[in-house]
Amino acid sequence: MIKVDISQIQSCVSAQDIKALEPQVSEAILKLENGTGAGNDFIGWTDLASKTDKGLLAQIKDTARVLRENCEVVIVAGIGGSYLGSRAVIEALSNSFTQLIQDKKNPQILFAGHNISEDYLYELTQYLKDKKFGVINISKSGTTTETALAFRLLKKQCEDQRGKDEARKVIVAITDAKRGAARVCADKEGYRSFIIPDNVGGRFSVLTPVGLLPIAVAGFDIDKLVEGAARMETMTTSSTPFEENPAAQYAAARNALYRNGKKIEILVNFQPKLHYLSEWWKQLYGESEGKDGKGIFPASVDFSTDLHSMGQWIQEGERTIFETVISVDKVQHSVLVPSDDENLDGLNFLAGKHVDEVNKMAELGTRLAHVDGGVPNIRITVPELSEYWIGQIIYMFEKGCGISGYVLGVNPFNQPGVEAYKKNMFALLNKPGYEEESKRILARIRK
Ligand code: PA5
Repeated sequence: MIKVDISQIQSCVSAQDIKALEPQVSEAILKLENGTGAGNDFIGWTDLASKTDKGLLAQIKDTARVLRENCEVVIVAGIGGSYLGSRAVIEALSNSFTQLIQDKKNPQILFAGHNISEDYLYELTQYLKDKKFGVINISKSGTTTETALAFRLLKKQCEDQRGKDEARKVIVAITDAKRGAARVCADKEGYRSFIIPDNVGGRFSVLTPVGLLPIAVAGFDIDKLVEGAARMETMTTSSTPFEENPAAQYAAARNALYRNGKKIEILVNFQPKLHYLSEWWKQLYGESEGKDGKGIFPASVDFSTDLHSMGQWIQEGERTIFETVISVDKVQHSVLVPSDDENLDGLNFLAGKHVDEVNKMAELGTRLAHVDGGVPNIRITVPELSEYWIGQIIYMFEKGCGISGYVLGVNPFNQPGVEAYKKNMFALLNKPGYEEESKRILARIRK
């Protein structure tokens, strides 16, 4: 079971404070179930896992097989919700080193289209020069500049290196059914393609082909991932008692903390493989809640690494933070600390112990210290890092996010603020259609 332990937040909010939120949390769950809340045209993710069509899964696996058989490297081009979910799952499940140096069994998965760095794109295209590579081009709108730019370069390079016909086999598009340049290009070029459902927003799309295809190409079991998510779906419905519903407990705890002045939530892991799960979570909660002048600021750290950089701030800085720790019960491998006759490093007191035991004591010690220092602590325990459990955690966070947004009083499924920088960038780059904006912005800059 995934457990959400909120017992260590009570220096800030009491059990009664949490209980007092039960009616609002229950109402939020019902809004998600009945489609009566704000943004209700984007709640397709709520039952995506239980309703996943077996035929679609088979098509995804078949396309993954083609890419696996024909590519040494597969580039996932996408930004935000169009790449963070797959990257989170792939990194959580991969060997920390063979993903980087490409093992024989699986193609190496690389990511592009999530920045506009010339150096990044130069180095990537150089790296791919002598490689058989394929591309998964992911964009719901089909018009995102970062992704389109990277895809333009990668498409040309793939065609130049492999020929147009061969390239057509190893370029896949995941986009809207009808709209956007990515759809036009896929249809014209005859690429294999998948549709992102209209009622699923980018940051909630990891259980659609957006996440599932890259994860399958990386060699992971998407059936198990979906099964885990579907199981969590059943555990977080309105028929689950409040105290037993992990998403409800999490949403209630973080909203109660926010109302008591805890404006920043730090997602903590003690396993570096979870770094990108935190990145995915930050987008999920940041874009969903940060609006109308409200919202918890989502931050993240990787411990114990960041205890040596951010630890001081967390222990003694402004008391506006709380931590949510993802704790992994069982690690995949076994490494024992060896004994050393000379004991020059003084570490013989650890001899014979598992490295993970040391890590767990670092985790417990940190928890106690931070709680003593005035940092409330929510602890989410995951039995192990496998497809099934990652599927559960993904759904738990998604549901917790939908509930939290409604309890906070915002529409968790839009992101109007994301457009502001794009408008200025297009005006500055003289994109057709932005002439008026361009004049306005140039006048402002010249002042
Ligand atoms: O959650 C969202 O909707 C966004 O963050 C998008 O995922 C991101 O902007 C990428 O958009 P698109 O998939 O249209 O290229």
